[in-house]
Amino acid sequence: MNSSVNYERQGEVALITLNNPPVNALGQAQREGLLRALHQAQIDTQAKVLVLLCSGRTFIAGADIKEFGKPPQAPSLPEVVNAYEQSDKPCVAVIHGTALGGGLEMALGCHYRIARRDAKVGLPEVKLGLLPGAGGTQRLPRLAGVAKALEMIVSGQPINALQAREHQIVDELFDGDPRAAGIAFAQRVLDSGLGVRRTGEQAAALKGVDNGALIAAKRADVAKRLPGFFSPPRCVAAVEAATLLPLVEGLQRERALFQECLASEQRAALVHGFFAERQCAHIDDLPKDTPVRVIERVGVIGGGTMGVGIALSFVSAGIAVMLMEVDEPALQRALQRARETCEASVARGSLSPAVMEQRLALLHGGVDYSELATADLVIEAVFESLEVKRQVFERLDQVCKPGAILASNTSSLDLDVIAGFTSRAEDVVGLHFFSPANVMRLLEVVRGRHTGLEVLATVMQLSKRLNKIAVVVGVCDGFVGNRMIFQYGREAEFLLEEGATPEQVDGALRNFGLAMGPNAMRDLSGLDIGWSIRQRQRATLPSNYPLPDVLDTLYAAGMLGQKTGQGFYCYAPGSRRPEPNPELLPLLEAVSREKGIERRALSDDYIVERCVFALINEGAKILQEGIARRSSDIDVIYLNGYGFAAWRGGPMFYADSLGLDNVLARIREFHQRFGAWWEPAPLLEQLAAEGRRFADWKLES
Ligand code: 3HC
Ligand code: NAI
Repeated sequence: MNSSVNYERQGEVALITLNNPPVNALGQAQREGLLRALHQAQIDTQAKVLVLLCSGRTFIAGADIKEFGKPPQAPSLPEVVNAYEQSDKPCVAVIHGTALGGGLEMALGCHYRIARRDAKVGLPEVKLGLLPGAGGTQRLPRLAGVAKALEMIVSGQPINALQAREHQIVDELFDGDPRAAGIAFAQRVLDSGLGVRRTGEQAAALKGVDNGALIAAKRADVAKRLPGFFSPPRCVAAVEAATLLPLVEGLQRERALFQECLASEQRAALVHGFFAERQCAHIDDLPKDTPVRVIERVGVIGGGTMGVGIALSFVSAGIAVMLMEVDEPALQRALQRARETCEASVARGSLSPAVMEQRLALLHGGVDYSELATADLVIEAVFESLEVKRQVFERLDQVCKPGAILASNTSSLDLDVIAGFTSRAEDVVGLHFFSPANVMRLLEVVRGRHTGLEVLATVMQLSKRLNKIAVVVGVCDGFVGNRMIFQYGREAEFLLEEGATPEQVDGALRNFGLAMGPNAMRDLSGLDIGWSIRQRQRATLPSNYPLPDVLDTLYAAGMLGQKTGQGFYCYAPGSRRPEPNPELLPLLEAVSREKGIERRALSDDYIVERCVFALINEGAKILQEGIARRSSDIDVIYLNGYGFAAWRGGPMFYADSLGLDNVLARIREFHQRFGAWWEPAPLLEQLAAEGRRFADWKLES
């Protein structure tokens, strides 16, 4: 018997237990094991009813994602599910933890399903660029109806056990031990003579509803909300098949659509994103058993944009925060801002008033640093000035208890210099949150030269409590995300001098898969911020690294973006919707004229190459310098912090999929034409020459 699937019998109940930690994913060995166990139950004359359950923390979390893109190995999952459905002895699936994707499909193939009260079920395949390919699109509508099936399959969001019972996806809920509950339920099936009940033969939920209208509405919704996505329209088509075709033909249609998704580039990109996100947590030189410090009391210094958002992230996770400001009025403003932010969530319906009060009760304020003496972690989020940070860290060094972690949210300053303001550099780490910090999931964990392993392990564990995705990065100006975005933004601005309009640049990049164009983004954050950074750069950059002049021109004209109602775009009072700025083109033309540039028509593809290849070239330098440890870490940063479309897989994955030799060839052309900014990264040259990908490269530590 396959070691990951165990068969045993208790009285008349055959127990088939899957044991494939950590999440009981179904690979080839498990599929084969499930079929063998089913066969054994069929020939076991004393077995009258079957129970399928899992050991460990969860029911089956789906097909083994690692197998996607490799040659298929029999038996397929649909074969296994169909075999269970066809069993002439009743089968009961016992769900605890999560039944996801192929896991829920296995359960739907069984004749009865019971779920532990805290379990969840879902079909998240769409998040991997797929659709449920083992009967989920045909069986779920037959139980839950088309509306619920479409909602679950197109969103990929799991539902809880109670909702699953309300929608007839499970028959009963239980508490406690899955095995005992499964045996008891199976015994009742036997005693009451319920017998076999095949999901594929059910039809009641499909009747008496205008399924065509539901399908048409979802199709329109997908086209509007998810442009560019490959699998969602196919999810809708597969569910439609359940309403039009008999089960066997519906399953064939589902399989064909599944295969199309499986072969798509988007599937490869989304699966890359799934593993990339999990890979971030693995740090080669950080032993798994590194001790972690207890973090229960947190101090946040500075109650501005970031400090308030950071404080809210902690209180949302149930961790008490002491927020420090310069004086009482500034403190009251910060606490008021925290309350208003929560109230806005209540108004939107994403937070209940009671939970808001619970969270705010965990938020305290102060102006006296001695109140931080008992804090386990203090995060500094004061002005971006080394001098101000020096004062803060010197003071923290005096008041904080030994072993307290001292973190900075700096977005560009040298963390090692900041650590040097204290006598405990091993306790200093960067925690670079993204704005709004209570919403954005990305966290760049900046590892300084002296940051201790215990400190690193503690903040990585803490990030999970905060529901953040933490990526470890090294010290440099802008770390990974902002250092790369600078290159991208500069090219976007040069393109305006060469002949493009903001609408064209933003449109091209949005169509490529960025959530927002660079010009609209600048209007949002305020052109004065970009302008002051630009002044510093002008003072320090060598002359062969020229900078564009558009930003300076707009700044001089008082067009600072949304805050002045005019920037790259115009904004009606109170509106954030960008409208064309009629005064902009003459300004752009004047800049071009002054620099002797003849404005020309630029294609959208060219715009994308200039901006995205600038990201990639800098990403390659960052990799080689060891600022990021692997290319997938860079992708995670771009997917979660910069609105890079999940179906593109991130800039480094995109480069790999184009072929690094192709990327390098274009970068060399740009280098010849535009000079030093485009000097190809040596790592890109090396990997392209060796026919390798960024994904193959690893920094030797
Ligand atoms: N296949 C292979 N490995 C998987 C996996 C899967 N389906 N699901 C999780 N894993 C791995 C993770 O990569 C991770 O590995 P690591 O420890 O080496 O990094 C480990 O299992 C634990 O995963 P998480 O860190 O994500 O654990 P959590 O407890 O935080 O979350 C989970 C558990 C909710 C099950 C989450 O892992 C998850 O969402 N998994 C994916 C579920 C999914 O998408 N299922 C559908 C698959 S497609 C399918 O079934 C096709 C079918 O229709 C034909
Ligand atoms: P901000 O200007 O909104 O807030 C700074 C706050 O710190 C002010 O309220 C000020 O009163 C307070 N402050 C100054 N000195 C203090 C002191 N000694 N003690 C206590 N409070 C003090 O600034 P913002 O935008 O919140 O930025 C803070 C830090 O976060 C900076 O280092 C910035 O680079 C970084 N950051 C900013 C991001 C953003 O999008 N705004 C994103 C990521 C990081």
